Order: sequence, then structure tokens, then C-alpha cells
Amino acid sequence: MVGYVWPLEDSAGRTGIRLSPGNPYNDIREDDVHTLYSALVGALAPLDLAYLHLVHAGDDGLLGTLRSLWPGTLMLNRPGAELSTRARDVAEGRADVISVGTLALANPDLVDRIGSSAPLNSPDPATFYGGGASGYTDYPTHGDARGAR
Ligand SMILES: Cc1cc2nc3c(=O)[nH]c(=O)nc-3n(C[C@H](O)[C@H](O)[C@H](O)COP(=O)(O)O)c2cc1C
Repeated sequence: MVGYVWPLEDSAGRTGIRLSPGNPYNDIREDDVHTLYSALVGALAPLDLAYLHLVHAGDDGLLGTLRSLWPGTLMLNRPGAELSTRARDVAEGRADVISVGTLALANPDLVDRIGSSAPLNSPDPATFYGGGASGYTDYPTHGDARGAR
């Protein structure tokens, strides 16, 4: 058996962190997001992590502040936003990378569809968090001759 131990000094670069400033889910309430997340991101900045991933990044003022505090790769998730809106975040410099969740779930060939401007399957929220395969492995690809789910 061959083992490999990561050199300790490389480990931070293999780790990313996801933060959700002002995440309104599940009764979470934070009123001091500018102070709190500026302090947190400022403290994380020297660690040389692989990326900072922001979801519910708050207002664009906070996003800009966190962007300026973060020296590395910034990934952004805008829940529910159109792909074109997300792409603009990269084009206009608010993020280095965007992420997609439910559209990737609903479109197993998402990258191909984007490349060929094919229509996208709509995610079905009824199958989120379902615990089974339905809504996870049965969305059709664009070229799937078997058609609808
Ligand atoms: C079924 C499901 C599971 C999710 N699980 C997580 C999770 O474990 N951790 C997390 O940070 N976000 C989780 N999310 C949130 C997504 O990462 C993403 O932020 C959200 O779907 C909104 O972005 P989207 O429009 O790109 O999908 C989940 C979302 C869905 C629909």
C-alpha cells in the first residue's frame, strides 16, 4: 500500500470556506453583518485558503467590502439568479468564479447546454431534500431521446 501525507504547508490551499452573510434560512438573524463578516474575512485572509465562497452575500456594498478584504479566489452563489446575472458578476469583477446548485442538479449536462445555448431543465423543488434518487439522478440530458422524466 502506498501512502501519501500532504505536507502541512500545502493543506490550507486544499481547503475552501463557504460563508453566508445574512443567511435568512431557518430563523437565522444577523444584524451586524458588515462588522462581523469584515472581521471574519479579514482574519481568514492570511490563511491562504483555496477559495472563499459566498452565498447570500448581502448587499453589493458588503460584497465589495469582502472582495477587497479577500486576497484570493472569490466564488459567489446568488441563489435562484439567472445564469446571465451570475456570469455578469465575473465579467464585472465582483467574483472570480460563480457556482450553481439547483441548475446543476436539474441539468446533468449543464456545461454542454451552456456551451450550445440549449434550454435548461427547471429544478423541481418538490424533490429537494427528498432522501431518494428522484430529482437527483433522473433529469434528462438535452440529447436524451427518452424525453421527459
Ligand atoms: C437539495 C439541496 C441541498 C443543499 N445542501 C446544501 C449544503 O449542504 N450546504 C450548503 O451550504 N448549501 C446547500 N444548499 C444550498 C445550495 O448550495 C445553493 O446555495 C442554493 O441551492 C441556492 O443557489 P442555486 O440557485 O445556485 O441553487 C443546498 C441546496 C439544495 C437545493
